[in-house]
Amino acid sequence: MAFRTIRSLIFRSNIKSIFPATTRVPCRTFHRSIPYSSGGIVQHRDTPENNDDTPFEWTEESKSRIETILKKFPKNRKKSGIIHCLFVAQEQNDNWLPLNAMKKVAKLLDVPPMQVYEVATFYTMFNRNPAGKYHIQYCGTTPCQICGSEAIKEAMLNYMGVHEGEVTEDGYFSLTEVECLGACVNAPMVQVNNQEVYENLTPESAVKLLKDFKEGNPMKVGPQNDQINCQGPLGRTTLLDDELPEPVCRDLDALKKEIDDEQKQAQDS
Ligand code: FES
Repeated sequence: MAFRTIRSLIFRSNIKSIFPATTRVPCRTFHRSIPYSSGGIVQHRDTPENNDDTPFEWTEESKSRIETILKKFPKNRKKSGIIHCLFVAQEQNDNWLPLNAMKKVAKLLDVPPMQVYEVATFYTMFNRNPAGKYHIQYCGTTPCQICGSEAIKEAMLNYMGVHEGEVTEDGYFSLTEVECLGACVNAPMVQVNNQEVYENLTPESAVKLLKDFKEGNPMKVGPQNDQINCQGPLGRTTLLDDELPEPVCRDLDALKKEIDDEQKQAQDS
């Protein structure tokens, strides 16, 4: 018998000895697999809207953005720009990456397509299926879940009238679960289109958020209650110095020159 099964039996028998047979065992699923992650299944499966014939061509604007991006990388390290190029492709293509967009990125960076697929399937910021104009990623990790992310998800999905991973009929919204988005102190929270985050949500404020998006109302990013940034009830208690030290930046050009000079000296001697 598999170790997991044995462990589960031991766990259940202990629980039953604590709670009588008529008592409902007070267990809840704290975390469960989600039906759709932002990228769906890891492998590509042809669908009517995403297959080898789905067109994707770079626009002039994207080409110029990519040109600027690639200047930041050494010529022999172009593949370091995979994430950046995928972002450009996704933004150009209504918030999702068709198969041919990934192939174009691979061709552009001169890498095997598999290397691009690996990146696109790993990171939840890439959508490999059509997404809504406002793609909501709600954080389902422990701090957010303890603070009510499940209720927020339910409220949002009820308002949208779709299931997780689906796009609303009007094309405005889609919603998926992601792991910690780094704002646990302001849990629960969501991120929209990989950019703005909305924190300290309640089911009501989460639905209001969707309505505001749809109606084009001015939005307040960050905490949706009275909290200021991530300050606690005592207000700001750290980093109170007015003059913070400058960040340390290395002068890479000077460093390179120093190394070159040293090498030259070594060769001459
Ligand atoms: S757990 Fe939700 S932001 Fe960290």
